[in-house]
Amino acid sequence: MVAYLENLDAPETLKKSMLYSISAGGKRIRPILALAVLEAFEKNTEEVVDVVCSIEFVHTYSLIHDDLPSMDNDDYRRGKLTNHKVFGEAQAILAGDALLTESFSLIANNSYLTSDQKVQMISVLSKAAGSTGMVGGQVEDIEGENRDLSLTELESIHEKKTGKMLECSVIIGGIAAEASDEDLMHLTKYARHIGIAFQIQDDILDVTGKQEEIGKPVGSDEANLKTTYPKILGLEGAKKEMESHIHISLEHLNKIKGNTGILASIADYIIKRNH
Ligand code: IPE
Ligand code: IPE
Ligand code: MG
Ligand code: MG
Ligand code: MG
Repeated sequence: MVAYLENLDAPETLKKSMLYSISAGGKRIRPILALAVLEAFEKNTEEVVDVVCSIEFVHTYSLIHDDLPSMDNDDYRRGKLTNHKVFGEAQAILAGDALLTESFSLIANNSYLTSDQKVQMISVLSKAAGSTGMVGGQVEDIEGENRDLSLTELESIHEKKTGKMLECSVIIGGIAAEASDEDLMHLTKYARHIGIAFQIQDDILDVTGKQEEIGKPVGSDEANLKTTYPKILGLEGAKKEMESHIHISLEHLNKIKGNTGILASIADYIIKRNH
């Protein structure tokens, strides 16, 4: 990812700000999920490294924009100052725009996949990231500020703003691995439920986490008057809800014909993670 950005024929400031957020770290859970699907079907992972990086590009762009003063207004991300704190708001917006656009180029220029696979991936990624996925969820998340949301409304926001990108990660892995329609269906459901669980844990860590561990401020949701799982269900209730989503995700995993051990450990990690 770093070499790709370094070699772009683009303005130096833009490259610097894109590289700043991409190389700040992060758990890389989305590319790892896609690679874990390839591992499950014993397929080559090296040929799609650029493709799985494209998912991380989209995710990193979403974080840069999510932290902007007009959105969550956060000063720290991945243990470092947020992009706009270092490069200014205009450059941060543009770094996000550029990462999003480069992601499609990364897929389109892959040398191993068929054109058909690439078109399917671009279609899945754009849908997950766009108005009916992550961006749509972010809009609903903002519109939900200052008012009490029902559990159903909150689940729908979590599913879109976080779930869809995790879902698309496994689907992209599945397309690369040429998984059967049935396996793809179970993989999608596995991802849907780990996606909701992942955002529930994100909400929990916003209350109980330590900034040194999570790399971003604690209490951001409360400051922005967001409805969260801990707010509706209490911390214990939120944990139970998260566990039940993980349970359902594992049931789907069991129906897949492949070696799903890594995917199961990712589900387990989501509950246990402290960052
Ligand atoms: C944070 O995502 C935003 C959410 C969608 C909850 P991650 O927790 O995956 O952030 P990084 O990539 O590890 O920094
Ligand atoms: C945003 O959710 C998820 C994105 C689509 C970026 P949050 O606002 O809860 O993410 P964090 O807690 O800032 O990482
Ligand atoms: Mg947010
Ligand atoms: Mg945020
Ligand atoms: Mg959060």
